[in-house]
Amino acid sequence: MRLSQVLFSQGFGTRRECEGLVWHGLVSVGGRVIEEPAEEVDTEGLVFTVQGRDWRFHEKALVLLHKPTGHECSQKPKHHPSVLNLLPPPLRNRGVQPVGRLDEDTTGLLLLTDDGTLIHRLTSPKHHVPKVYEVTAKHEVTPGQVAQLLAGVVLDDDPAPVRAAACEATGETTLRLTLTEGKYHQVKRMVAAVGNRVEGLHRSAFGELTLKGVPSGAWRWVSAAEREQLERKR
Ligand code: URA
Repeated sequence: MRLSQVLFSQGFGTRRECEGLVWHGLVSVGGRVIEEPAEEVDTEGLVFTVQGRDWRFHEKALVLLHKPTGHECSQKPKHHPSVLNLLPPPLRNRGVQPVGRLDEDTTGLLLLTDDGTLIHRLTSPKHHVPKVYEVTAKHEVTPGQVAQLLAGVVLDDDPAPVRAAACEATGETTLRLTLTEGKYHQVKRMVAAVGNRVEGLHRSAFGELTLKGVPSGAWRWVSAAEREQLERKR
């Protein structure tokens, strides 16, 4: 692929801007500055450097973000900055979008991608990827509440009960809940349905992915092997 096309596909600006980056000697491959935008490069395993920062070529972007509170998942946020502000411009320019949503006051693991097919697959009710939530509740978490969450509770928008795939009290007022669907405000509504109230919510895992090594507000690429694991039929 032509070098300027590589930059364009990876979100480094318009075609003209990408050519400009090359002409100005700001792009190197394997330690060699390339000043010819039309130079062909092999995208297989390609690592290129733009203005001193290394980037690996990704046909489709898939990243994991440790979402802090005070950020909205919507592309047109109303009251708080968008989670997209936490990503570097090339990722935003590529049009990455959250895979599902976390509320503004929820922290934790959020996936973002520019692969529409993957978003569809991972958010489809047929794809039962487990998501683990750490809940801080207002009132004591009782064995009865845990049992009800496991047995299933009815939410106001659907007569069919929704149940936690796993649920355990982790402290007097804390709870770990695993869900395989992602209805609107599902955790908050399920906890409310058993007579308690969510005061703090953190998603600690999405499939096999966790936030290990990713501090709040930071992000990392999801590897091809991790992506395969996520897409595995369950
Ligand atoms: N359930 C909720 O209620 N809120 C979230 O942010 C995620 C799941």
